[in-house]
Amino acid sequence: MLLSLWFVFIVILVFPLKSLKALKMAEAKLGHSITLMCGMSYHHEINWLRMGLDLKPKTLMVMGLKNDGDLSVSWNSNESHFEGCVQNRFIGLKILKVLHSDLVTYFCAASNGKRMEFGEGICLYTNHSEPTSHNTPQATPVTPKGGLTQTHLIIALMLCVGLLLMVLTIIAVHMKARQSVT
Ligand SMILES: *[C@@H]1O[C@H](CO)[C@@H](O)[C@H](O)[C@H]1NC(C)=O
Ligand SMILES: *[C@@H]1O[C@H](CO)[C@@H](O)[C@H](O)[C@H]1NC(C)=O
Repeated sequence: MLLSLWFVFIVILVFPLKSLKALKMAEAKLGHSITLMCGMSYHHEINWLRMGLDLKPKTLMVMGLKNDGDLSVSWNSNESHFEGCVQNRFIGLKILKVLHSDLVTYFCAASNGKRMEFGEGICLYTNHSEPTSHNTPQATPVTPKGGLTQTHLIIALMLCVGLLLMVLTIIAVHMKARQSVT
């Protein structure tokens, strides 16, 4: 009885840690911009997606490179919030002003006409739960926030790992479904 409890505990603990390697953490500052790069071949059309707590992947931007190396954006879900960019011929997603709702998991996908390939997940997190308010008189960052920061990070990690597992499951199911169709 006790042994099986331990087993469950270890599985719960180790499984997310393993998948952590497939997940990159990126620290964002609320109100600032952040650029996420897609490490996949620029030869294909790149889709940038994100998934939040609703566990529903959402396509943010679709773009590719023209023959002259310039970026061509074929779709942008919110032009006042997202921008595409090219760095060393890799295609990136720039979030112009990071909002609290932007702190989710991002991934890029390349489609080559036949199938989608997914890049590694990038989990956005922030050390601070809210942008520093200038209205409150005691807003000076003197208070030791170490414990709080740590908790935030752990919560962000748990959230992201959960989301990543979900994404992997969806992809695996999708692949299986496809294989059984053909
Ligand atoms: C687009 O982004 C802005 C923030 O940059 C946000 O206020 C607005 O609600 C977004 N529009 C949609 C349709 O999500
Ligand atoms: C955020 O937290 C991480 C890890 O605790 C630390 O390395 C980083 O310097 C912190 N960043 C800021 C802006 O406080």
